[in-house]
Amino acid sequence: MIKRKDIPEIDTGVVGLGLMGSSIAAALLIAGHPVKGVAPISSDMEQALPRITKQLKHAEQSGLLKYSLSHYLGQLSLSEDFGILKNCRLVQECVVETTSIKSEVYRKITASTRKETVISSNTSAIPISILQEEVPYPERFLGIHWAEPAYLTRFLEITKGAKTADKPANWVFELAHFWDKEPTFLQKDIRGFVTNRLMYAVYREAFHLIELGEADIEDVDKSFRYDAGSWITYMGLIKRMDMLGLADFGVALKRLFPQLSNSTQVPSIMKKMVEEEARGVQNALGLYPYTKEEAVEWEQAFAEFNKEIYRLAKEIPSLQPYK
Ligand SMILES: NC(=O)c1ccc[n+]([C@@H]2O[C@H](COP(=O)([O-])OP(=O)(O)OC[C@H]3O[C@@H](n4cnc5c(N)ncnc54)[C@H](O)[C@@H]3O)[C@@H](O)[C@H]2O)c1
Repeated sequence: MIKRKDIPEIDTGVVGLGLMGSSIAAALLIAGHPVKGVAPISSDMEQALPRITKQLKHAEQSGLLKYSLSHYLGQLSLSEDFGILKNCRLVQECVVETTSIKSEVYRKITASTRKETVISSNTSAIPISILQEEVPYPERFLGIHWAEPAYLTRFLEITKGAKTADKPANWVFELAHFWDKEPTFLQKDIRGFVTNRLMYAVYREAFHLIELGEADIEDVDKSFRYDAGSWITYMGLIKRMDMLGLADFGVALKRLFPQLSNSTQVPSIMKKMVEEEARGVQNALGLYPYTKEEAVEWEQAFAEFNKEIYRLAKEIPSLQPYK
């Protein structure tokens, strides 16, 4: 059984220090682990320290740091050399979503670590069972899927691939509770895990309504924001049914399911956006119109909101009464 006092003794590694890798490094530092960050490309090395420092400062403003900023930075080592991973018991890969690049990264991780080292991927979409084929001793490989910003969300999805053994998976699940998460633990490697399957079912219906001209993007967002948004952090989807009355849901499911889209095509609006290289607030070109200043304001306001929702989510009791 892992005890809180063990955490500073468990070295962790993060490979790939882009948007999410640096945020995961910050989350592991805040949890109390020493973190070895590897920059697989040189440009990461220039940006990693300022990025992680910024994230730790944001965490500090959000009341998450027990110690001074310098304490956490003192627990961080950064290098382009995979050799710094030598003593890590867990290495999180967080590089671009390309199997061949991930595979090359696993080759370097496994050459630098012990065969017991648990290796995880933050992939959103590549099956864990496919990625683990790229690793010697695939039984110690699994998915640890974080949400951005990793240090300020309660979400974490742990997924076993077909060859993942129980022991390392159970160990990671237990460990994740020391990271201030409410992890899900998927015993089977389902495509898109749980969160993306749920969200993309909603996106399909949203685009269906927009393309039919039956709702516009603002209608969709207002409905989601002010309906689901007013209860979802508190109770999730299924508990809501218990709270509201199952009989009504039974009737609604029967009436509505035949009306919903089951298209397998990428919505034409999205195809157009991708062709135009629209990246939303990142380049002020999105489904909504933005000036560059407004795009920056949205990003900043979201960082503030994250603090509030994290605090709220932490105060809300677990879904199971006996926990
Ligand atoms: N951005 C999110 O919100 C989010 C959420 C969940 C999961 N993910 C997953 O996390 C992973 C990383 O995403 P990100 O958003 O941090 O991306 P990013 O573009 O910010 O960072 C990608 C990193 O990949 C590495 N990289 C790029 N080219 C490489 C190469 N040729 N060889 C080795 N390494 C290379 C670099 O370290 C780079 O910093 C992806 O698998 C992504 O699907 C992202």
